[in-house]
Amino acid sequence: MDTLKDLLPTRLYEVLEKAGICTTQQIIILSLWDIKKLTNLLNDDIKLLKNIVSNNCCPDSISGTFLEDENVTVKTGCASIDKILNGGFRVGTLTELYGESGSGKTQIALQTAVYCGNSGCVFICTEDLFPVKRFNQISQYVWHNIRYTECQKNIFIEHLTETHELLSCIRVRLPKLLKLNKISAVILDSVAAPFRCENTNYVQRAEELKELAILLLNIAQEYNIAVICINQVTACFTGSDDVLPTLGLVWSNLISCRLKLTKTTTEYRELTIAFAPHLSNAQGAKFIITKYGIEDMENILLNS
Ligand code: GTP
Ligand code: MG
Repeated sequence: MDTLKDLLPTRLYEVLEKAGICTTQQIIILSLWDIKKLTNLLNDDIKLLKNIVSNNCCPDSISGTFLEDENVTVKTGCASIDKILNGGFRVGTLTELYGESGSGKTQIALQTAVYCGNSGCVFICTEDLFPVKRFNQISQYVWHNIRYTECQKNIFIEHLTETHELLSCIRVRLPKLLKLNKISAVILDSVAAPFRCENTNYVQRAEELKELAILLLNIAQEYNIAVICINQVTACFTGSDDVLPTLGLVWSNLISCRLKLTKTTTEYRELTIAFAPHLSNAQGAKFIITKYGIEDMENILLNS
């Protein structure tokens, strides 16, 4: 890491030196107001020097090369989506995928399960039964009949509709399964259904949601697994046409990444990053749902 003298414009460095601020650590830890009190610098100058120093201190653990490592992601198989996710869903984290009905949540989840292939996947359905026919259709296309029977052996499917069944499965049965089998992703389609029933005991619901998220996050980190939770949407009270993910603040505060799916036209759909500590939310990924699964829109346009 460079020294402060090398990093900063001379005029700023001299003022800081006079005020006794000599290390990058001090600049990061001291608040804007502390630095202002000690140096009398303008707010814009203080923001500038904080930016210079923080950009220079980016730790290795979150550097681009590490994030692009294939071993830390589970890919969806759709190039544009994998690109904006820096390779795919990150292992060790809890990712929420939300969007209105028909936006493609289940299709992305299914294709991710297909791409897990031999590295295994657990798929927990809480709404409809697992769409076996569609899974086979995507598998056959992806694995060209050769590995697709192998791939079927490595997907563990469960159908649970009640909150207590879901919690008990994740508390007891899932860790046992993970100890015995190599698994790279756990998919929950959807997390909303068991919690959206007529339960008006909101305190209990919040406690259960908290327990579920903590259990899933522990599993993600202990077994190095990507946990993907599908969530539904609810209307926005501000009167706009926009929709919000369901389950409220308790759930929002417990997930690591939130991805949003929108149906832009009947033709194509878009995945954008609502929040994710390791990803840029500058652009979205456009995709189309075809009989083969989810496909990169740009590829389709290029090949047409
Ligand atoms: P909800 O579960 O209702 O919240 O919606 P979702 O976001 O999970 O939607 P899903 O992924 O199930 O479906 C999205 C779209 O994919 C549908 O509107 C269809 O256009 C398309 N789709 C679903 N199943 C198939 C299929 O078997 N073949 C093809 N070609 N398209 C499908
Ligand atoms: Mg669905």
